[in-house]
Amino acid sequence: MPQQNNQHRFDQIKVEASPISLFETPIAYCQIKEGDELMNELEQKIRERKAADEGLRRSNIGGWHSDTEMIDWAGDAAQRLAETAVNVAKRLSHFKEASPDNYQWLVRMWANVTPSGGLNHLHTHPGNLWAAVLYLDMGDDADHPLDSVGGRFYLEDPRFPMSAMKDTSFRLMGVNGTPQQYETEMNLTRGSLVVFPAWLRHGVRVYTGERERISIAMNIDARRKA
Ligand SMILES: [Fe+2]
Repeated sequence: MPQQNNQHRFDQIKVEASPISLFETPIAYCQIKEGDELMNELEQKIRERKAADEGLRRSNIGGWHSDTEMIDWAGDAAQRLAETAVNVAKRLSHFKEASPDNYQWLVRMWANVTPSGGLNHLHTHPGNLWAAVLYLDMGDDADHPLDSVGGRFYLEDPRFPMSAMKDTSFRLMGVNGTPQQYETEMNLTRGSLVVFPAWLRHGVRVYTGERERISIAMNIDARRKA
């Protein structure tokens, strides 16, 4: 077989390698600055709503998931958060022949309050361009490292089938010289805002802290202005 004959020789051929990275997945990993007043207001609105409304069941197991009309019931604070998230999404968006400003940006927003034992299954946000999450209260994390209370937000490599090849230990080597993982857990704190493509599968591992954890999620979409 020519291939076998050439194998040894191939080792001796000098090559100049120029690794390149293609098909990037942009993820905005932000931290809200000087936003205590805004976050306290959002938290207050969420607590009031939770006391008055039983919420929905979506990707959450355990915990309270509000309806998706938070922009209506949380007022100015929610509107400001939505505008912030849209501005981040616009920086990561490109449309052929039109500026992102030629689009009307639409946001649906809801709140999650997660007690001990709560989690979010792996999911996407179909029908949207971007998804976003803001953490207001990490629960026990202030006193305990995340490793001891769980509840980590994670993103899955959208090329997931690569990790299910014949040898499941196989990884693609990144251009930075380290193997690429098929899941990435994010290190989040109060004020962390993550904006990511809505098709990117993500979830939250089971949370075992005692205090409730509070977060806000958003769907972000855009329609070309008439
Ligand atoms: Fe989500």
